[in-house]
Amino acid sequence: MKTWNVAKIKASKGVCKLPCVTAYDYACARLADEAGLPLLLVGDSLGMAVLGYASTLPVTMDEMLHHTAAVARGTREALVVADMPFLSYQISDAEALRNAGRFLQEAGADAVKIEGGAFRAGLVRLLTQNGIPVLGHIGLTPQSVNVLGGYKVQGKTREAAEQLVSDAQALADAGAFAIVLECTPPDIAAAVTAAAAVPVIGIGAGPVCDGQVLVMHDLLGLSDNKPPKFVKPYAALAETLRAAFHAYATEVQGGTFPGPEHCYPLSGLPPL
Ligand code: KIV
Repeated sequence: MKTWNVAKIKASKGVCKLPCVTAYDYACARLADEAGLPLLLVGDSLGMAVLGYASTLPVTMDEMLHHTAAVARGTREALVVADMPFLSYQISDAEALRNAGRFLQEAGADAVKIEGGAFRAGLVRLLTQNGIPVLGHIGLTPQSVNVLGGYKVQGKTREAAEQLVSDAQALADAGAFAIVLECTPPDIAAAVTAAAAVPVIGIGAGPVCDGQVLVMHDLLGLSDNKPPKFVKPYAALAETLRAAFHAYATEVQGGTFPGPEHCYPLSGLPPL
């Protein structure tokens, strides 16, 4: 049994903060898991961070299943949550249940994440009643970028802020074990966090949330674009990798790599 399951994540509300991160591959999942992070989200940010798409919209079920399985193989203790990609849960409840189930059955995920507020409560209830734990996602929901008119801060009017509070409550009532809250002013995030009975995991939502989640490439300083304001890079891996590639190229071109220490013993055979 893993250290982190949905019951333990739920019970952490008000007890300890949850430092969560996205993960897309075996090697990085293993390192994040070994560091003790409680929840690894195989986000559909995969599309931009790893696959080079311009948004999350082109990401497919097959791509998500492939990367979720890799993350699950690298994870021993953290809860692995798979993001349900665009149009994998919107068409019908039956399709949503089938697709969500594939993440647990075929890819080894422990839970799924879906975007949307109170209007998704029925689906959250259906999935959880059928044994599939759900992480909600409200605020800036990137799959709706074309409706929202861009990647913008959400909940800035009283009406929108009150909607976020009732969305969080409706998702928690429907059985979501936690809720991602993306890009809201910190005071609104604090109100949502206080109102929700389950952990609210913020991204660009200030310090009061029950946990935080960052895209791994942003956290590691590996993103090619300038990261959003809310990101704090904890490493500068892009610079480290660039320097390593340059050094390698220079040594191969200069004939200093491979050196004798990188070579197997001579065969001793007469010249061929
Ligand atoms: O896809 C993703 O990485 C996400 C997080 C930003 C919450 O949804």
